[in-house]
Amino acid sequence: MSEQNEWGSNLSFILAMVGSAVGLGNIWRYPYVLYSNGGGAFYIPYIVAILLMGVPFLILEYGVGYNFKSSFPKAIRKINSKFEYLGWLLPISVFLIMIYYSCILGWDGIYIILSFFKGWGADPNTYFATTLLQSSESVSGITSFIPIIAIAMLISWVIVWYISHKDLEKGLGKVSKILVPLLFIIMIIIVLFSLTLPGAMIGLNELFSPDWSLLLDFNIWMAAFGQIIFSLSLGMSIAFTYASYTGQSSDLITNTLSIAFANCAFENFCALGVFSILGYMSLQSGTAVADLVTQGTGLVFIAYPTVLNVLGQYAYIIGPLFFITVYLAGLTSILSTIEPLAFSIQNKFTWSRHKTMTTLCIIGAVVSMVYATAFGGTLLGYVDAYINQIAILLGVILECIVFAWIFKCEDIVPVLNEKSRTLKLGKWWIYTVKYILPIFITIVWIGGVYDTLKTGSLDQTMTFGLLTLLIAVLVVIFTKLAPTNPNWDDTENRL
Ligand code: PHE
Repeated sequence: MSEQNEWGSNLSFILAMVGSAVGLGNIWRYPYVLYSNGGGAFYIPYIVAILLMGVPFLILEYGVGYNFKSSFPKAIRKINSKFEYLGWLLPISVFLIMIYYSCILGWDGIYIILSFFKGWGADPNTYFATTLLQSSESVSGITSFIPIIAIAMLISWVIVWYISHKDLEKGLGKVSKILVPLLFIIMIIIVLFSLTLPGAMIGLNELFSPDWSLLLDFNIWMAAFGQIIFSLSLGMSIAFTYASYTGQSSDLITNTLSIAFANCAFENFCALGVFSILGYMSLQSGTAVADLVTQGTGLVFIAYPTVLNVLGQYAYIIGPLFFITVYLAGLTSILSTIEPLAFSIQNKFTWSRHKTMTTLCIIGAVVSMVYATAFGGTLLGYVDAYINQIAILLGVILECIVFAWIFKCEDIVPVLNEKSRTLKLGKWWIYTVKYILPIFITIVWIGGVYDTLKTGSLDQTMTFGLLTLLIAVLVVIFTKLAPTNPNWDDTENRL
């Protein structure tokens, strides 16, 4: 089946992977995580997390995908046919990410337009929460539909469909080659501009003044591992799927190093920009930087508009550029979230790429309308917490066990080393993926589950239960449906 999906060049593969990695997590999540976990001192757990987990795990996921050159469930089936369930679990969870990502893209699309005339008014907080989202904490909010958000989301779905339904290289490959460099260029312009603002140093001093004592705190280690998993899109079967589309001559180890480097460089660069701007804001308003720092939606849709309000004429250039960057970063990530499930369906049921993508986009768009309601914002927070703190970490642990132990990761070492022009894998890698990684991530997972369940509301816990049920039902259906691909059951490995 891989002949249907093949990158035109190594560059398309790398840029599509960077596009998947560089996303909202780099722009809205990382600066806050860095700041609230010890500032400069955070670099120690962060670098350990990259070296101990990010790079070794990506090499494992790529290596196995490259070896099998098939969809994720088919590869898992070849490793052991009883595990096909796991093979569907990840692509389905990632598709759920896609559905809520389309909502954030929709919000951002609205802000691109608003930024041309500061349409959020003098009080961005009230505008976002009350005027736009009509936020309701209560489930009954699900009955009040917000057409403007629905339209913005549908536009995102049409864009995603338009790119994804084409052949891989003509759609995703080509778009990544244009959008990813563009994303980096616009971000560089924004950050350089931010660094020249009066007060920028106040923000940067605040960001980097290290609090070494936090190094002894277990939470900052958890935060570093969580950030790297999210930011590098680990354990989501995306890297696996992308690697299965690569040709014979790829140097996967060197590619992994480049992707990890580009992603980390981008997020640290973003942090410089965000904190320069917060420093400027602090100087203007007399509020301490610490009181201005928020994360996620708060940063992008509230703190930024607030800053743009005091930025004068520059805001009409920097504002649209910023919201366009967020859109591009989100778009290149969302495009990667449909690939694992789409390729799995293509592979098992011999559907064409066109038909699969069109069907999935229609289903996704219809389901996503639940976010275009007054309960949408709250629900999005729940689903995000569930996917990131529970489902994906579990995916990483299971993938590690299946790939490193049952598949025997030693087997791919010679193949990868032979192509590598840089790093060579040795015992250290096998030891890391077999022991250190599963143990470490299990600890982080237990901590995360405990934390979310302890602090979550009743609605959140019920949403978690429903999501688990939904994923389980879908996994069973996809596993049990009879394949139409006559090769679905062949067991030969590529090695
Ligand atoms: N890595 C992306 C980011 O940093 C997040 C992402 C999650 C992308 C899931 C694709 C799939 O924002």
